[in-house]
Amino acid sequence: MPYYFYQFTHAITRRPPTTICDGLRAVDQGNPDFARISAHHGEYIAALQNAGMTVVELPPLEQFPDCCFVEDTALCLPQGAIVLRPGAVTRRGEASAMAPHLAPFFDDIAVISGPGFVEGGDILVTEREILVGRSARTDAAGIAELTQIAKAWGHHVREVITPPGVLHFKTDCSLLDHQTILATPLLNASGCFADYTVIETADGEEACANAIRVNDTVIMPAGFPKTADILAARGYHVVTVNNSECAKIDGGMSCLSLRFTPTL
Ligand code: GLY
Repeated sequence: MPYYFYQFTHAITRRPPTTICDGLRAVDQGNPDFARISAHHGEYIAALQNAGMTVVELPPLEQFPDCCFVEDTALCLPQGAIVLRPGAVTRRGEASAMAPHLAPFFDDIAVISGPGFVEGGDILVTEREILVGRSARTDAAGIAELTQIAKAWGHHVREVITPPGVLHFKTDCSLLDHQTILATPLLNASGCFADYTVIETADGEEACANAIRVNDTVIMPAGFPKTADILAARGYHVVTVNNSECAKIDGGMSCLSLRFTPTL
């Protein structure tokens, strides 16, 4: 049976810290409200559980305001996990804090040791390759180190470009199934998905390109009805989760979890 990169049994999440207002952001849209972001986080965990996942909820790390965005700390593959090296200096310690929580699930854990850096938000894994977007958070040296580790596990890494002004590659795209990608028109126009079927976000709804396919469910942020309708019409089971507070600090559906099937 093929391994599909949307079929998982487990997720690791981390609850938002009270310092979340210090989270990084490209544009000031006001601070997230702690009570609301905590409630939204609970909705997100429930959506994962309803999609069949066992969810590990880690406590917040108050010294790391962006710590709930655990996806940037590690890449989980069928062969093992790779502890990443975030490009944002204020986030670098989040990766080493994640490493012990991967140990119960993976017998093989590799580490990006640097000097390069790579964040999980720039990595899209499909059945046939790993696309890594070079960005302000992910550089050529980080991609080169990731490529060596992934190659030893049988994966082909393809470097692509995160559009200027876009935080992460996956800010603008998501895997919907083994050959279908949800992408913004901007990213799709770059041609990086030429070998895939692409569904573009609806006009004015580019901010919902960061969704996650988890087993039979596509979890996407609430408030993007045209794109949700497009996906539903294409046969996807869509569940929406409130994300207004995370969005203020550039956080989306993929950022909030590591999704995997343990090797142990
Ligand atoms: N606030 C998410 C990030 O910039 O990493």
